[in-house]
Parts: sequence; structure tokens; C-alpha cells
Amino acid sequence: MKKQTINSVKKTVGYKAANLVEDGMVIGLGTGSTVFFVMERLHKRIKSGLTICGVPTSHQTAFRAYDFGIPLTSLDEHPILDLTIDGADQVDPKLQLIKGRGAAHTREKCVANAAKQFIVVIDSSKMTSQLDAAVPIEVIPFAVTPIIEQLKRMGGKPVLREGIKKDGPILTDNGNFVIDCAFGVIKNPSELEKSLACIPGVVENGLFTQYTEKTIVIVGEQKKCRILKSTDVIT
Ligand code: A5P
Repeated sequence: MKKQTINSVKKTVGYKAANLVEDGMVIGLGTGSTVFFVMERLHKRIKSGLTICGVPTSHQTAFRAYDFGIPLTSLDEHPILDLTIDGADQVDPKLQLIKGRGAAHTREKCVANAAKQFIVVIDSSKMTSQLDAAVPIEVIPFAVTPIIEQLKRMGGKPVLREGIKKDGPILTDNGNFVIDCAFGVIKNPSELEKSLACIPGVVENGLFTQYTEKTIVIVGEQKKCRILKSTDVIT
């Protein structure tokens, strides 16, 4: 798909997801270029009278929310969310995800966990038969070297994420580093997610395997959208 087409697909799925938001809801707001369109549509609906508030998962999303007039709140005020809407980097047929291209996956997992329903918006290039992208892993700087060694022993190929327009490692919105670790085809994503979570100094990893039952994926193609649920596939 051309870049322009991908953007129009992102807009279609983003608007479709935003149209599912109901008056009075408290929602998790993911991060990234597809969520941008979710927020653009919410802005229009708020101007027409919709009352909602959102928990942002990054500075980027918080700034956009200010621009779009979307009221913000926190997980302290709202530990349970009606729904969360977010993008993803890869989605498999079981609706397991890899997220974290934008280094926001820790907060994204917090709002996915807190939500009664998790709506994922992607273009069809993100669908894959098996997850095989590098897994973003947020780590505290103190433990980065032993974590890299441990990931190598686990068969991974860890790379410390470097900044663009910033020398050296990037810092997440939580003040941590990100390691992107390729494992090839991930045969058991749930097991890998748990193993990574057990490494001391790992804050969070970008595998999302525990929310499939409450997940709905809106997949945008050139001319139509497909809606995928864990129980069935509706075209
Ligand atoms: C942010 O860290 C990521 O998890 C994004 O949600 C994910 O990369 C999807 O982003 P796009 O919608 O920009 O592709």
C-alpha cells in the first residue's frame, strides 16, 4: 500500500473505533499515527456534544489531547476504564500483539489491562500469521547490560534503541531505555512475554498476549474494514 493509502486506511479505522465510544465513557488513549485519527474523530464528536475523558499513554497523546480538546484523567482517578483504543505493530490470528514502536508500550499495557474492552486499530500490513518482529523491552538504565546478556542467552538479538536527532539511547516517557530484541518467529508469545517480565530491571515488554478475550481488532484494507474478535471473524 502507498503511504497516502495507508494514511487513509488509518483514518478509516481510527474513525470507526472513535465512533464506538459512548457518552460518559472513560477511555484509554494509545499512542501513534493511527490513534491520531481516533483522537481527530473524538474531537469532532466532542464538539457535537460527546462527553468523555481519556487516560493518555504518552506525552505525544497528552499534547494531542490538549489540541483536540479531549479532557484528560488518570488511572489514579479511574483505575477501571470502559475501553482502550490503540494501534499495534503486529497482530497474529489469535489477536496477540507486538507493540512499542513508539516506546509507549508500558503505559499502553497499563491502560489495556485496566480496560473492559480493548480496541486495536491497524492497517492490514500489520496482520501476520506468526509474530516475528523485534520485541520492544523497556528497562531501567541501571540493569541494561545484564539484561542484554540475559536476552542473548535466551536466543535473542538485543539492540539498544538509539535516538533520531538525539545521540545515544532514547529515554521513554518513564525515563527508561528500550531494547529491541528479535527472537525470529515467536512460537509461544505468551510464554516469552512472561519470561521477559521475570527479568530483574525489565519494566515491561511489547508482547500483549493476555487480553485476547476482550480484544477487537479493526483491520483496514484499501476499500473495507474487517473486524476480528477472539471468538469469530466478521467480514
Ligand atoms: C507506541 O509505542 C506503539 O505501541 C504504537 O501504538 C504502535 O507502534 C502503532 O503505531 P502506529 O499506529 O503509528 O503504527
